[in-house]
Amino acid sequence: MPTSEAQEPSLPPVQVVVRIRPSLDSEEVEVPLLRGEGGTVRLSAEENCEENIADRDCRRVRKPQDFRFSSVFGPSTSQEEVYQGLNIDELIAKVAEGYHATVFAYGQTGSGKTYTMEGYRYRVHADGPQVCIDETTPESLGVIPRALRKLFAHLEHLQESDAETESSVSISFLQIYQEKIYDLLNPAPLPQGVGPQEDAGLRLRWDSLRECFFVENLFVYQCATADDALRYYNAGVHRKQMATTSMNIASSRSHTVLMLSLQRRSHVPGDDQGVLKEVTSNLTLVDLAGSEKAAASEAAERFKEAVNINQSLFVLRRVITALSRSGRDEHVPYRESKLTSLLQHAIGGKGFMVMLACLSPANKFYEENLSTLQYASQAALIQNEPVINLDPKDRLIEQLQQQLLAAHEYILQHMGLEELPEELRANSVRPVKVHKMSSGKASGFSLDRADFAWQRWRGLRLVREG
Ligand SMILES: Nc1ncnc2c1ncn2[C@@H]1O[C@H](COP(=O)(O)OP(=O)(O)OP(=O)(O)O)[C@@H](O)[C@H]1O
Ligand SMILES: [Mg+2]
Repeated sequence: MPTSEAQEPSLPPVQVVVRIRPSLDSEEVEVPLLRGEGGTVRLSAEENCEENIADRDCRRVRKPQDFRFSSVFGPSTSQEEVYQGLNIDELIAKVAEGYHATVFAYGQTGSGKTYTMEGYRYRVHADGPQVCIDETTPESLGVIPRALRKLFAHLEHLQESDAETESSVSISFLQIYQEKIYDLLNPAPLPQGVGPQEDAGLRLRWDSLRECFFVENLFVYQCATADDALRYYNAGVHRKQMATTSMNIASSRSHTVLMLSLQRRSHVPGDDQGVLKEVTSNLTLVDLAGSEKAAASEAAERFKEAVNINQSLFVLRRVITALSRSGRDEHVPYRESKLTSLLQHAIGGKGFMVMLACLSPANKFYEENLSTLQYASQAALIQNEPVINLDPKDRLIEQLQQQLLAAHEYILQHMGLEELPEELRANSVRPVKVHKMSSGKASGFSLDRADFAWQRWRGLRLVREG
């Protein structure tokens, strides 16, 4: 097995955390039916209701329900505490090692997703909400600006301890609006409001080598510093689709996906011919648009947006449900929406995933909160298997090196030699002396494995020769 897959990640591959935002000034103060303590959220349908009874309108009133998660952040939790609680620093360290990682905020409209991910201040103008980045205090900054600074600080730290390894970071930022993909970093003007019918947005394509979707013609910028990355991010934030709705003065009308791609090139240990090993990994930070009851009272444009948002979140929920039933060999409908196609590697894939489920504290949102908690509980059952993303060429080289090593070990064992013959030494990938052993194992490498690898190698040769 390649070393990249044998390394045991210390972070849980899937973390699901919940944040309950504080009540807003515009909301009534009431006895909350939603409480978070420790890792548990308790949702009651009615205060002191312990039984499964029917209310006056014969609706089912449920007993209080408890949901357990990795962490639960209550209304008084600060942005810094949430950032720390999400283990973003550890996640960044994993990305630097070569793993993909994705953080996404999920929840109904107005539940605090953008506040948590972005944290910027918004003001309402005649032509809609406008972001006021300069008026945002450092304490209010959300996960994304903090993570950007941390990523570069971490890379600088790594550079100090290993000057040989080169790193480069690139950034892309897109939005999925009405099921079309738009580049938030393309300087050309975006279609305003509902795009023209013929405007199909950017195309999603399948990369069969890396086995993931990518967006064709997306602008990708190299960033040397955190300030560079923040400049691009902020430019994209100004361009994303926002609107004032009856539920939220600055409501995201699109899903935004920020991708930081990290490339690390290091010299292969023990190789003095300048061979480089390349690892590319992505940190993907997603602020979803929120589900909402599409009210007919909203303007036609808002109504259409809500229908589209609900539709793509519906596919996301189906993906989560299918993946949570592991072992049942279910079809996972990734390809049924742009969002789930793009998040395929993150949800149920080979990277680390953090889902942040956001809840509004008002009692009138009981049904919405129950739905969010149920999907978040299902997401916690998803099993990701993170692996380091070696360049396909490097992965092949690593596999061939393993085979060569196995062949050399086999030769040493079966011919009873202490050293490889002269003509094989030039190609050796490791010290070529056999270690005398008592238990049938040489330098941690079992004879059975050597045998097996040797047979496979011979098999490959036979196929090629035939
Ligand atoms: N933890 C918090 N502390 C203070 N205010 C908050 C907090 N979370 C959210 N808010 C406020 O609640 C309102 C709604 O938050 P936000 O815009 O982040 O919701 P959202 O989930 O992104 O909604 P949408 O799906 O409509 O985009 C905003 O005015 C925001 O400032
Ligand atoms: Mg939002």
